Amino acid sequence: MQLFDSYHRKIGYLRLSVTDLCNLRCRYCMPADGVPKVSHGEILSYEDLYRVAQAAVSLGIEKIRVTGGEPLVRRGIVEFLARLSKIPGLSELAVTTNGVLLKEMAEDLRIAGVQRLNISLDSLHPVNFTRITRRGSLQRVLAGVTAAEKAGFPIKLNTVVMRGINDGEIEELAALTLNKPFTVRFIEYMPTLNDKKWQSLFVPGEEILERIARRFAFEKVAPARLAGPSRDFRITGATGKIGVITAVSQHFCGDCNRIRVTATGKVQGCLFSKEELDLKPILQAGDTALLGKSLGNLVGNKPESHPLLDAEKDRDAFVMASVGG
Ligand code: 5AD
Ligand code: SF4
Repeated sequence: MQLFDSYHRKIGYLRLSVTDLCNLRCRYCMPADGVPKVSHGEILSYEDLYRVAQAAVSLGIEKIRVTGGEPLVRRGIVEFLARLSKIPGLSELAVTTNGVLLKEMAEDLRIAGVQRLNISLDSLHPVNFTRITRRGSLQRVLAGVTAAEKAGFPIKLNTVVMRGINDGEIEELAALTLNKPFTVRFIEYMPTLNDKKWQSLFVPGEEILERIARRFAFEKVAPARLAGPSRDFRITGATGKIGVITAVSQHFCGDCNRIRVTATGKVQGCLFSKEELDLKPILQAGDTALLGKSLGNLVGNKPESHPLLDAEKDRDAFVMASVGG
C-alpha cells in the first residue's frame, strides 16, 4: 500500500518522538531552563507508540525516525526499538540523537535493528560545544560517534549553523568528510524559540556552500532513496558527503514526504502548522481501525507548504524539543 496526500506527494516517512526530555539544552532548540515539564502520564506509553507505528506502516509508511527531546534518555528505549524494527513492511528504522549516551548504547542499538543514526554535532571545539549545548561534553559525544562507527552505523552528523557562534567552523566540520565515510549536514537555523534576534544568527544555505567553496571544490550527488530534504555534495576526492538543509531560505515543501507524532500523541502533517490531531483518545478507545483512518485523514490534509517566512511575525513560538526536529 502507498500513501499519498492531496498534492500527490507520497508520504513514506514518520518521525516519532518518544520523549520531550533532553540531557542537553542546545540554544537553538530549548530555553536555558528546559521545556515546561509534561507529566509522565501525558507521554504515550511504548505500547501506544508501537500501535501508532504499526498503523502508520500498514498505511504505507516505510521509514520511521525515532526522535525526542533525546530519545536515548527514555528508559526501555532499546527494547522498544527492537520491537519497532520487526514491524513487517518497515524498511528503515533510524534514530536522531545528541550522542551523549552513544558510547554506552551504540552497540545495543545496532543489535536492536536500528539502521541509521543522525548525531547532532554543532562544534569541534570543546568550549564552543559546551556553550552551544549549555552542558554537553564534546569529548563524550565524539566517543559516542566512534562507538557508533565501531558498531557499524553509517554516520550522519547534523550541524545547526549560527552566525557568530559556529559559522567559523563550517570548513572544519566539512573536512570531517575527507577521510571518513561520514555525511555532515548543515542545517539552517530555524526561528523556533520566538527568538527576536534570529535574523542576526541566521546563515542561509547558499552562504554555507560559499564558505565551503572557498576551501574545497565539491560536486552535487544524487539524493538517497527515502532521503529527507538535504541537498548533498561531495568534496572532490572525499570519502564522505556534505549536505545543506535549507528549511528557511528555500521551501522544500513540494518534496515533503513526512508526518510527525509528538511524545504526547499529537500528529502533525507539517512542522509549522498549528493543526494537529490528538491520537490519545483514539488509542485509549483501542480502536485500531479509527487509528488508521485518522492517520490517513491527517495525511490527506497535509498543507501544501508552510508559511514560515510570510507569517513569521504572527507565528507562535514552539519548542523544537517537543516536536522532535
Ligand atoms: N533550527 C534548526 N534545526 C533544529 N533542530 C533543533 N532545533 C533546531 C532549530 N532551531 C534540529 C537539529 C538537531 C535536531 C535534534 O533537531 O538538527 O540536531
Ligand atoms: Fe536536546 Fe537535541 Fe534539542 Fe539539543 S537539539 S536540546 S540535544 S533535543
